[in-house]
Amino acid sequence: MTNILVTGCAGFIGSNFVPYFLDKYENYNIVNLDLLTYAGDLKNLTECEENPRYKFIKGDICNRELVEFIFKEYDIQGVIHFAAESHVDNSIKNPAVFIQTNVNGTFTLLDVAYKYWMDKPFSYKKDYDRCRFHHISTDEVYGTLNEADLFTEETPYAPNSPYSASKASSDMIVRSYQETYGVNTVITNCSNNYGPKQHDEKLIPTIIRKALAGEQIPIYGDGKNIRDWLYVLDHCKGIDLVYHTGKEANVYNIGGRNERTNLQIVDTICSILDEKVPRKSYLPLNGDIPVAKAEVGYKELITFVEDRAGHDRRYAIDATKIENELGWKADEDFESGIVKTIEWYLRKYNG
Ligand SMILES: NC(=O)c1ccc[n+]([C@@H]2O[C@H](COP(=O)([O-])OP(=O)(O)OC[C@H]3O[C@@H](n4cnc5c(N)ncnc54)[C@H](O)[C@@H]3O)[C@@H](O)[C@H]2O)c1
Repeated sequence: MTNILVTGCAGFIGSNFVPYFLDKYENYNIVNLDLLTYAGDLKNLTECEENPRYKFIKGDICNRELVEFIFKEYDIQGVIHFAAESHVDNSIKNPAVFIQTNVNGTFTLLDVAYKYWMDKPFSYKKDYDRCRFHHISTDEVYGTLNEADLFTEETPYAPNSPYSASKASSDMIVRSYQETYGVNTVITNCSNNYGPKQHDEKLIPTIIRKALAGEQIPIYGDGKNIRDWLYVLDHCKGIDLVYHTGKEANVYNIGGRNERTNLQIVDTICSILDEKVPRKSYLPLNGDIPVAKAEVGYKELITFVEDRAGHDRRYAIDATKIENELGWKADEDFESGIVKTIEWYLRKYNG
């Protein structure tokens, strides 16, 4: 059996990754280190609770003593590092915790891994030479795009928000541990994920939740910002592939080739909801006096609100490297993935 430390699994992507990984591989024990910030919820992992190959530890990735204890106690032989502060809006309001967790936390994990696995630079201890550190990062480190280009692994970093700057910084620290000490690292930079278990604050859960509650659905600016959407399980499969077969010291971009404006996202979700759970509302047919009940579309709830400060216009990933070198391909396109996603949130919000 191999024990690996997977951080931040009570959050969105980690909690999709753990059941997938435990199910696929019987030779791994997973230790999940998660601080359970507002973004982490153990309910996301109920299906793993009884699994003897899964262990949860509540704690901070910045707590060096704790991280050292975990490495020793569980003889950790690999790290997949999800834990982070992840919401751009929060990073604009309160950047300090982003630097603390995303930069210092990543440094702490890496430094403990280096010292536990290696005697000195470029020299792994006996039986530890297969240990690898996989850092989960984002396409936001590349900044914003014009209408035509795509982010490749060679695109220069140009982070614009405190969130993306903290992730870019952590990527650089990972790189430095590879180049200076020879720690076996891989980094994946992924586009926007969507799917089950995402926190209520994020775009797609917000749209569904507000629509079902009959509240205004807030869309930033003109709604024309473009993101490249990937179903979360396809991201998990890409991480699995890179962790096991990616080349040491390499970066892999992961993206679904599914560019959509925020307006297209909200329109699609509203249309699907119109079919699945038609909205009934009182229409003011006679002056302001509500006299008739009729079906009205969810799109009427869309409201444009003041744009996010420094809102990047477009992100889009060129996934050629992971597709050609490792044979990864997204199984889900947006049309199929969004239906599964909406069905999951309908169960969550409607009980
Ligand atoms: N969500 C996306 O679309 C997306 C896209 C690309 C990359 N990423 C990256 O993937 C990773 C996971 O993202 P997510 O959307 O699942 O995030 P999330 O915010 O849903 O979950 C983050 C988890 O980390 C935990 N955590 C936060 N600070 C911690 C600390 N100091 N110590 C231990 N645990 C801590 C939280 O409790 C939570 O469970 C992040 O590194 C993020 O940058 C996310």
